[in-house]
Amino acid sequence: MTEVKEEKILILDFGSQYTQIIARRVRESHVYCEIHPYNWPLSEIKKFAPKGLIFSGGPSSVTDPGAPIVSEEIYALNLPILGICYGMQLITHQLGGEVGSAREREYGPAYMRILKKEPLFSGIEEESIRVWMSHGDRIDGIPEGFEILGESDNSPIAAMGNLDRKIFGLQFHPEVVHTPQGRLILENFIFKVCKCKPLWTMKSFVETTIAEMREKVGSDEVICALSGGVDSSVVAVLLHQAIGKRLHCIFVNNGLLRKGESEQVLRVFRDHFDMDLHYVDASDTFLTALKGVVDPEQKRKIIGNLFIDIFEKKASEFSNATFLAQGTLYPDVIESVSFKGPSATIKTHHNVGGLPEKMKLKLLEPLRELFKDEVRLVGRELGLPEEIIMRHPFPGPGLAIRCLGEVDPDKLEVLREADAIVMEEMVVSGWHDRVWQAFAVLLPVYTVGVMGDERTYEQVIAVRIVESVDAMTADWAKVPHEVLGKMSTRIINEVKGVNRVVYDISSKPPSTIEWE
Ligand code: XMP
Repeated sequence: MTEVKEEKILILDFGSQYTQIIARRVRESHVYCEIHPYNWPLSEIKKFAPKGLIFSGGPSSVTDPGAPIVSEEIYALNLPILGICYGMQLITHQLGGEVGSAREREYGPAYMRILKKEPLFSGIEEESIRVWMSHGDRIDGIPEGFEILGESDNSPIAAMGNLDRKIFGLQFHPEVVHTPQGRLILENFIFKVCKCKPLWTMKSFVETTIAEMREKVGSDEVICALSGGVDSSVVAVLLHQAIGKRLHCIFVNNGLLRKGESEQVLRVFRDHFDMDLHYVDASDTFLTALKGVVDPEQKRKIIGNLFIDIFEKKASEFSNATFLAQGTLYPDVIESVSFKGPSATIKTHHNVGGLPEKMKLKLLEPLRELFKDEVRLVGRELGLPEEIIMRHPFPGPGLAIRCLGEVDPDKLEVLREADAIVMEEMVVSGWHDRVWQAFAVLLPVYTVGVMGDERTYEQVIAVRIVESVDAMTADWAKVPHEVLGKMSTRIINEVKGVNRVVYDISSKPPSTIEWE
């Protein structure tokens, strides 16, 4: 068995908004890496045994009192280091060079002339390349033993390196797409300087993780809350491959799912994958509990608590189970300086939080090292259907927060039909996989319309389609008018009770993605 994480890079985070992107780039090049805060203890670093270090950028100035610095002993480890932006300034400052403030903050595209090709710029044909700058300070004097590897108009020292000590600094950001050759530059560092082997593939991740899970679980049994979303689906299939029928999946239908969703989950997991899947239809219980409730936070609380009660009751039938499997992802566990993942903004929902302790179960989190795009690749590797792998995020409280005001079965039916049309049109137009989320919202208002000779007084559907990378910020998608027009015509013609469709053109912030 290949040890997929044997050849790894350590990224020390100084608070840059791009730190996670650095990690994703390294992993896309098939090398495992982890992000840790800049002050991660030296003993931990030694234990982690990386083949190289990357210092991220950050908002501070090295000359500020209290600026984040690393212990000087790091340089004595004799590991290759790549400092990006603040990381470069820190290396300069700590190794005896000079950092000054640039006359003006440089933000945006710039051209860098390459002064020395090997090793960082190896394979680049051009003499001058487009790079993305975002910095205040700049390097005025390089430390002893270093040479200048690249220059730009605003940054005479845009790239530097000490080839003997294998320490490099870049003033620009190679990790962002606006530096077209950035990937090659990072790969040159990883492969030519650090001499990593590209072992990190999702195929080897799957093999290793299945073996690990088998060993960890032993002859015990595991419970998993399956929602049909990408993360819990991948967890379930991974564990199913590891321990077969000793995995018990519980799928709770809260009556707030989209059209055809529960049928799909049963078809895929019970029929196709032949899992031990337990379906609990609790629609009535949820809808009864939501009667008369208008306040969104109240709705969320009711749904979350009920879910836990129902799940716990069902789970207690499996008295031999000692583990609870969860789809926690890497962005939820990174302990970095700047990062607050989408989880920080996600409101209370039916995450099975608190359950493991209450039920005395141990947690299994096989995806806790993965980014979302890696989870999708794992899903493909495991043979999950594309319709599940490419599914848009769907909130735990489901349609309850897209059915504004009081939720009732009639309104849910209207919303479900309208939402299914939005989805169908996204898929046929090819827009589905180009956006973060697309859905319908049922507004609690009635407006006048006319149908034939008759005046109508019916409900309004809002269509929300957004682009985003992490749900922290989002922009409304510029979907062609023809696609929106077709959605509107179909919804008004096919969904009884709707005579008007509007398109939401607000970004987040200041709006949010969901309407609630
Ligand atoms: P907002 O509306 O806050 O949503 O911009 C950000 C992202 O989070 C999703 N969301 C949830 N996901 N449980 C979840 O698992 C929830 O309770 C929940 N509420 C919102 C939302 O769909 C969007 O992708």
